[in-house]
Amino acid sequence: MNKNEIDKIKSKRTIAIISHPDAGKTTLTEQFLLRGGAINVAGKVKAKTGAKNTKSDFLKIEQERGISISASALSFNFKCLNFNLVDTPGHSDFSEDTYRALSAVDSSIMIIDGAKGIESQTKKLFEVCRLRDMPIMTFCNKMDRESRDLLEIIDEIQEQLAIDVAPLSWPVGIGQNFKGVYNILKDEYEIFESKSRHMSQNITIKGLHNDQIKTFLSPELRSKFFEEYELITSLLPKFDKKPFREGSLTPIHFGSALKSLGVDQLLDNIGGFAPSPGNFETETRIIKAEESKVSGFVFKIQANTDMKHRDRVAFTRLSSGHFKKGMKLYHSRLNKYITISNPIMFFGQDRDTTDEAYAGDIIGIPNHGTLRIGDSLSEGEKIKFKNLPSFAPEILRSISCPDPLKSKHLDKALSQFAEEGLASLFKTLIGARWIIGVVGKLQFDVLESRIQHEYGLQIKYEKTNFFTARWLSGDEILINELVNKNKEQIAIDYDGKKVFLARIQWDIDRLGKDFPGVKLNKVKNFSF
Ligand code: G4P
Repeated sequence: MNKNEIDKIKSKRTIAIISHPDAGKTTLTEQFLLRGGAINVAGKVKAKTGAKNTKSDFLKIEQERGISISASALSFNFKCLNFNLVDTPGHSDFSEDTYRALSAVDSSIMIIDGAKGIESQTKKLFEVCRLRDMPIMTFCNKMDRESRDLLEIIDEIQEQLAIDVAPLSWPVGIGQNFKGVYNILKDEYEIFESKSRHMSQNITIKGLHNDQIKTFLSPELRSKFFEEYELITSLLPKFDKKPFREGSLTPIHFGSALKSLGVDQLLDNIGGFAPSPGNFETETRIIKAEESKVSGFVFKIQANTDMKHRDRVAFTRLSSGHFKKGMKLYHSRLNKYITISNPIMFFGQDRDTTDEAYAGDIIGIPNHGTLRIGDSLSEGEKIKFKNLPSFAPEILRSISCPDPLKSKHLDKALSQFAEEGLASLFKTLIGARWIIGVVGKLQFDVLESRIQHEYGLQIKYEKTNFFTARWLSGDEILINELVNKNKEQIAIDYDGKKVFLARIQWDIDRLGKDFPGVKLNKVKNFSF
């Protein structure tokens, strides 16, 4: 790979935002895109109601409910750097896809609502990042609203997430008194100046004790700020890049996505400290981003984005090399070469065919079912990526079609959703019933709506006695023995893997004791 190509890769930051619904992910994304020039009017990424529609609101149910379900990837530039933002579906119920989106990024931004602190979805997502020791930047949002005590929030992060927190900024005033943020690294204030009801600008004041700050802050606000600043700089750890990169320290930023304060600083620090595209582990070796040969893996399938064409896009994270449109890449699972003739990338609101892409980029590959989640592409090497997990469903229901003549259509629809990774699909060993498993129950509504709209089928869900599934691995003879003794609780998943369907936790504990040589896995690696 030549220097120019290596520089291109080094200038990329592939990131995701993890947060609880309503913490401000969409607003922050919008601010990023505004800065990158990818959009020019705020309010275009997602409008919960009204005329403007987000480009990622592909599906009817998303539009009806005004929530963003489908993960997609957006690319934008900021100060000589190229950012790939992998969207994580926002609603708390849609976590399986969100989890997997995190396998495609090199670092994450964790948004915390200052009034709420750590919330359940943030915690779950953080734990997935932890599985890979991923570097995480924290943005404590909504400083223009009344907030909880900030030191208490920092304590909560340290305790609940077991990670050190180093402040890189501190808010100047909070709520109604919010004036801006002080950037600790740059030793400068970013102050919000309201010119009129409809006009405002952010101005920069250099130096902690610059007298100019007196124009904006009352003596009380100033002394309160200095007091807090003294306290946090003596009490909290200093920022250090090494533990950040290792995932044991998160730098915290404060700001307001809505008022666009602290956003540039966040982007600057991602540019300065977050890693450029890094290594990926495969079953045989480590793949480095700067290798000259192209490789990548599919982490997300989005189907039927255009009903007229029944299209299907495989979102692929390039893990190495310099990809060019029209390349023939080796598809490991199918053991054949496929031509990538129409790779797409998403720039703000526009979906465009791209002529080239590099390690770190996310390209969408339109296809008719050849690509599945976990598939790998290369220039001839057989690769199996690790760390592309599928999580055990938390709710299981049986699914059938009231019209028995249409059951073949149902099989087809379900296979597609399983390929998209939207749901886990199991067929029971006894009775060959379809059981569908999801992480959040709203997903059942999504599937029903899509089966109706895309396949014209009515379906029926029924409760089952099962509460979760565990993939079986380990000694084949022991697995077969376990299967024979527990046939009524065994099913086969979409990839032909055996799973145990548990009715209560006790079932899992019992099997663990009876068959110590068999592992009951909560997470399945998706690689083929
Ligand atoms: P999400 O994608 O994480 O679910 O959150 P989103 O950005 O949609 O933000 C949730 C709500 O919080 C929105 O208000 C948004 O305007 C508001 N918000 C986001 N960042 C800030 C901030 O820095 N300060 C304040 N004060 N509010 C913020 P909403 O009324 O629910 O929606 P909308 O009508 O504004 O779209």
